[in-house]
Amino acid sequence: MDHFLYRDGALYAEDVPISEIAAAVGTPFYAYSTATLQRHFKLFDDALEGMDHLVCYAMKAASNQAILRTLAQVGAGMDVVSEGEYLRAKAAGVPGEKIVFSGVGKTAREIRTALTGGIRQFNVESEPEMEVINAVALELGVVAPITVRVNPDVDAKTHAKIATGKSENKFGIPIARASEVYTRAAALPGLDVIGIDVHIGSQLTELEPFELAYQKVAELTEQLRNEGHNIRRLDLGGGLGIPYTRSNEAPPLPVEYGALIKKTLGHLGCEIEIEPGRLIAGNAGILVSDVIYVKSGEGRDFLIVDAAMNDLIRPAMYEAHHDIVAVNEPAPGTEMQAYDIVGPVCESGDTFAKQRNMPPLASGDLIAFRSAGAYGAVMSSEYNTRPLIPEVLVNGDQFAVIRPRPTFDEMINRDTIPEWL
Ligand code: LLP
Repeated sequence: MDHFLYRDGALYAEDVPISEIAAAVGTPFYAYSTATLQRHFKLFDDALEGMDHLVCYAMKAASNQAILRTLAQVGAGMDVVSEGEYLRAKAAGVPGEKIVFSGVGKTAREIRTALTGGIRQFNVESEPEMEVINAVALELGVVAPITVRVNPDVDAKTHAKIATGKSENKFGIPIARASEVYTRAAALPGLDVIGIDVHIGSQLTELEPFELAYQKVAELTEQLRNEGHNIRRLDLGGGLGIPYTRSNEAPPLPVEYGALIKKTLGHLGCEIEIEPGRLIAGNAGILVSDVIYVKSGEGRDFLIVDAAMNDLIRPAMYEAHHDIVAVNEPAPGTEMQAYDIVGPVCESGDTFAKQRNMPPLASGDLIAFRSAGAYGAVMSSEYNTRPLIPEVLVNGDQFAVIRPRPTFDEMINRDTIPEWL
């Protein structure tokens, strides 16, 4: 459920008409709903009720500080994967003790920044990284709390580019080697080994892969405890999928996911962390665009819109489907028409949808891409010297621009021309 609904024939974000935002900020833009963000966070928080837990929002999904603060205010921690994300979370007011540092290749510099500013834990991805965390901690005279990310060799049954839990993926340490790695970790004086981390992929639409992975984590917890390690925290990653179409998709609900966690891991008495990104932000954001031209091609009509692959890369990169709706609700009985919906970038890959049924549209009409809140704005670029588009946060009947559109001067003046030219 989200808060982008039609009212009296017009699409609203909470209590604000989309057309009003478009008139104020221009198109294209991203709009997020505070109520949806907080609702989705709460679904996870409630699903883990009864267990000692922290929901660490994977801020890579949508990292605007206003979004981070919106979630932090209802109790979210953050999962970060770079120094930039760490500093952004801190700037948004998230305390270090609620920030988890994930990521395959943390540099000494990143580790230093986090240890200096305060960190809940590092999720260690390799033995060389573990040695570097230890060295930096000793240099700073502190002890770094860590979990080790294990790779359970489970098929997440998702798009190949976002599956991370198979042995051929670059993530984590093979679960079969965990015992050896924990023995080494325990011998390093700069580390406090507090738990186990696992994350098997993103946009999972079934519970079974989670179940297989979490069962392996449960077994490993008992084994490591028997070997003398004080395993007291389990970070279970993110990955729960969202419905990208209104009609036929029904991925498991957070409450079912929470029940699975209780079933597979509840008996261990560990503190539970999860790192959902997409489910919190995905359906809490839309991308609004304007039809520039309607062009009749051979056997097909193109809607050429002012958003492009640089603003929302998911269709080009993952063949991802986003529902696209007209901001003016079609009257009942309107005959739909098939369009190829494309952006202005000079690549055929700049195609959002092929032969998508829409009400008849004309130049100047607004459309909205649904489910664009996660991995939308954060993956955008200035390809074709197109400005990064504004982000807008709606809260009830108010809205605010939370990232303005840069001017062309700002973009162009970032280049410097060497003296010899
Ligand atoms: N934790 C770790 C260690 C991760 O690598 C990820 C996502 C998450 C948590 C959050 O997963 P989520 O709950 O959002 O599924 N750009 C892609 C998705 C990449 C996901 C990368 N890792 C897309 O647009 O589909």
